[in-house]
Order: sequence, then structure tokens, then C-alpha cells
Amino acid sequence: MAKIIAVLGGKGGSGKSTCSIGLALALSEQNKRVLLIDLDEGMRCLDMLLGVSEKLLFDVSDAVGGRELSSCILKVDGIDNLSLLAAPGEKGLFSTTDFVKFLENLPNNLFDYVVIDLPAGSDIELYKALGPGTEFLCVCNPNAVSVRDAATIGALLNKANRKGKLIINRFETYFVRNVIFSTLDDIINESGLALVGIVPESEHLSFAFLNGNFKIKGRAKKAFSRIASRLCGQNVPLPKLKRI
Ligand SMILES: Nc1ncnc2c1ncn2[C@@H]1O[C@H](COP(=O)(O)OP(=O)(O)O)[C@@H](O)[C@H]1O
Ligand SMILES: [Mg+2]
Repeated sequence: MAKIIAVLGGKGGSGKSTCSIGLALALSEQNKRVLLIDLDEGMRCLDMLLGVSEKLLFDVSDAVGGRELSSCILKVDGIDNLSLLAAPGEKGLFSTTDFVKFLENLPNNLFDYVVIDLPAGSDIELYKALGPGTEFLCVCNPNAVSVRDAATIGALLNKANRKGKLIINRFETYFVRNVIFSTLDDIINESGLALVGIVPESEHLSFAFLNGNFKIKGRAKKAFSRIASRLCGQNVPLPKLKRI
């Protein structure tokens, strides 16, 4: 069965969708077959960011409801290994149980990784339903409110007997030195989660959202590539903070 990666976080805006795409692209560049699922029902965005919304006819609710998977999947030009299931335009079209059953019934030979972009907030029932093999990645910004959200989510994951990892997104050395936290370890300790990677503040990422043409370049691209490699079991050291 494909490895499930659930990207989650506290409030909207921490970068869950950005990190879901960044990670999915990085995994696909490492020759992994990736199914990216936008689970932000009613607030879909991944189809737009990947420039495929004009092709959208069916979404994840149709696939969960039994429509043939290949007719629901959106392909991104030039990225063969990546498939997208867009979120439905409204909420409540399927249950958590149905969604998990759909994941369990995905054909074994189609995908190596399923990356799920979750909506803001926490949902312990979903964490439990997704099963202990799931890799939960909590996206947090280097500020006190966001770190507290990460700690809350970490505690819920613990309660659900699931293990979470931390992505610090929108990192700037300035934040760590001057605002609330004196070192990166403070953020990691406070969150209670194991660090899997740090993504820098990057104008490429914010511009991608402005023009709907998701191309990741520079340090952000390298950061996602390191996270993807770590998730694939490689030991990739963190660069010096000023090089992130
Ligand atoms: N590392 C980053 N550098 C610059 N802008 C970022 C970064 N991560 C996210 N953003 C911006 O933050 C906003 C919210 O990101 P998004 O991924 O939609 O958050 P979420 O899915 O958690 O609500 C977007 O405008 C996005 O471009
Ligand atoms: Mg989002």
C-alpha cells in the first residue's frame, strides 16, 4: 500500500497547501508516484495552484463515491509522476470512514505516496481513522501562536496514538533571533514534535500563489527536496541556518 502523508496544521495560512504541493513535487522528482489529495472541502485550491482547474470535472468526493479513479484524477503537464484529486466545492459529501476505505482500496501498484492536504484545525477522529502507518506532518510558522497550535496538534496526535513530525515554514533567521524564541530548539521543544524540515520564507512561493503557476525554485525547492529525501528514509543533515 502507498505510504500516506497527512499535512496538517493549526490555523489557515501556515502553509499546509504550499508544503503539500512542495512535498508532492519533490517526491515526484525523486521518481516516486504521488497522489496528491486536496481535502480542504469547500475551499479547494490545489487545482488552481497547479494550473489544472480548467480540466476539473470530478473530484475526491466522486472518487470516494465509486467513480473510476482515472476519470477523477487531474494530471499536471510535464509532471508525469504526479496525480491530483481536487477537493469538492462543498463540505460533507463523504464521511471520514468512506474516505479511509477509499484510501485502503487504492490499487497497490499505482502510487508510492499519497499526500493529503488537510484543512485548518484538528480532527482527532480523522487522525485515528488514518491509521498508525500515516506520516503526520504539522506545518508551523516560527511565531508563538503557530508553535502553540503545533503543540496542541502534537498532543492530539499523541492521544490518538499517532506520531507527528514538524515542518517549520516561512523560516527567517531573523525570527528565531529576535522574536520570542532564542533558538530553533526552543520552537522544536515547545511544539513537542520531531523536526522533519525547515522551509524558508520564499518569494517564489508567495508569487506562485499570485499567478497560479506553481513553480518552486531556489532554496525553497531544496528544502522540500530534503524533506522528501528524509521521508524516503535518507539521512539528510540540516544545512547551516543562514543557508536554509
Ligand atoms: N515559505 C513560504 N514563503 C512565502 N510565502 C509562503 C510560504 N508558505 C506559504 N506562503 C504563503 O502563505 C499563504 C498561505 O499559504 P497556504 O499554503 O495557502 O496556507 P494554508 O494551506 O495553511 O492555509 C499563501 O499566500 C502562500 O503563498
Ligand atoms: Mg490550504
